[in-house]
Amino acid sequence: MCEAILVFEPSGLRISVDETTSVLDAARMLGLYISSECGGRGTCGKCQVVMQPMPKPSEADLSHISGEDIGQGVRLACEHCVNKDTHVIVRQAAATTKILLEGVSKGTKWEVDEGYSEEKGIAVDLGTTTIVAYLMNLADGVQIGQAAMLNPQIVYGEDVMSRITYATREDKGSLTLKSVVLASFDDLVRTLSESTGVDIDSIVRMSVVGNPAMHHLLLGLDVGPLGRAPYDPVIKESLNTNGTVLGLDTARDSQVYIAPNIAGFVGGDTAAFILSQRLDETDEIILGIDIGTNGEIVLSVHGNLHCCSAAAGSAFEGATIKHGMRGQEGAIEYLRIEEATEAPEISVIGDVPPKGLCGSGIVDTVAQLRSSDLVTTGGRLQESERVEISPKGERSYIVVEKGERGSERRILFTQKDVRQVQLAKGAILTGASFLMADSGIEVSEVDRLLLAGAFGNYIDPTSALAIGLLPPVGIDKVIPVGNAAGEGAKKMLLSSKMRSLIEQIVPEVRYLELATQERFAEVFARSTILQSGMP
Ligand code: FES
Repeated sequence: MCEAILVFEPSGLRISVDETTSVLDAARMLGLYISSECGGRGTCGKCQVVMQPMPKPSEADLSHISGEDIGQGVRLACEHCVNKDTHVIVRQAAATTKILLEGVSKGTKWEVDEGYSEEKGIAVDLGTTTIVAYLMNLADGVQIGQAAMLNPQIVYGEDVMSRITYATREDKGSLTLKSVVLASFDDLVRTLSESTGVDIDSIVRMSVVGNPAMHHLLLGLDVGPLGRAPYDPVIKESLNTNGTVLGLDTARDSQVYIAPNIAGFVGGDTAAFILSQRLDETDEIILGIDIGTNGEIVLSVHGNLHCCSAAAGSAFEGATIKHGMRGQEGAIEYLRIEEATEAPEISVIGDVPPKGLCGSGIVDTVAQLRSSDLVTTGGRLQESERVEISPKGERSYIVVEKGERGSERRILFTQKDVRQVQLAKGAILTGASFLMADSGIEVSEVDRLLLAGAFGNYIDPTSALAIGLLPPVGIDKVIPVGNAAGEGAKKMLLSSKMRSLIEQIVPEVRYLELATQERFAEVFARSTILQSGMP
């Protein structure tokens, strides 16, 4: 029988199903709530979800759903079974993803342009997974509101490469990705306006920072070159445009500043990270790491900047982990193993029955398996009462048994999951290692290691250091800086001086291409070892 993977958004929960299991039943198996008054008989019309790719509509779909929605992929979850991998957006989801909004900037005083009184601006951090928008007072730099959402492009691919593939291979793929992200910008503008009482007409400026793929898709540029060597962006320079030209329905008269890209996989979000921390003007040696589906690593040696990009994949977002999920209600975010044969101690977001593991829980799990000798440094799960072996011979650590903590299913961490974490952490450590070697910097010389982004903010640095996800700088040097890209976007929004500064800084950043490094395979293989240390 044909098996397919269903991925539910916004939770990111996934399940393998055969072609006799309806989408509604699959959601129930995962403990996800979808309204279903008729119990799945196709008569109430309540179980509407968005499916991508779209299946052929059934008669029940056509009788309950408008033609426009049918065209957008809205279907009744009880009416469809799938035989190919499918993303399902549950629009009625009660739970919301924990999206990192706050960040830390160097310096306390915001640089602002003169000549404003009541005008407002919006700084946008356009991430691959989330979009965060900050409403700011242009006259004094005071933040008035903030709003965030998952990037709706996610149903077309979890990471940058799969979006590039979708944009280049599908008919109107690029246009689809552009229009869904523009619709999100409009939603965020309206949400900010409604939640703060600020008139949309008073929004006169916007700034946008994002990685090169997000940048190109927003602007409708060809992303093809980003997907093949030498991975050069079509445009590196910053852009000044306006809401109308960009294609917004709201804030059409606003001036929009798009931050410059540094290289093919290092974009305006990294430039914003540099600006927020003023990595260009430090006496120290600072390593900055933003761990996302694509990890960006910056090394500042007394203000001289070096950077590279490491393809970490989406393991830390839970996407390639059997029972992985995003950081939302039901996600195990913390795990400790006191006794290898007993259930681990866990903490769950929202203090509800556990549904899966999010990034911080995944890193904790591997670190704890390692410290309990349930996994070797080479990543092999060991036999134990809490490690089961499937009929196919795959070992899995039982994180939660069905019924434990009220869980509706067993939550496992499989041998394959350990391998996925090894690959992801190996990519980050390899990048950091080459970048430091290229600049002649030893790990003992690093004064601070700044962790940017949601994952860096929520992981336990002790666990990350223990499995060698981060270079062994010492726990006291690891400092989470939150949404540093968002902070940089605010600086670019508020000050023409900051915009000029980042435009001077970006061409001076030395970009190191990892793929062409001679010893890449050897260093990468050593970086996958689960222990603290440099490869
Ligand atoms: S559950 Fe009623 S139509 Fe699907």
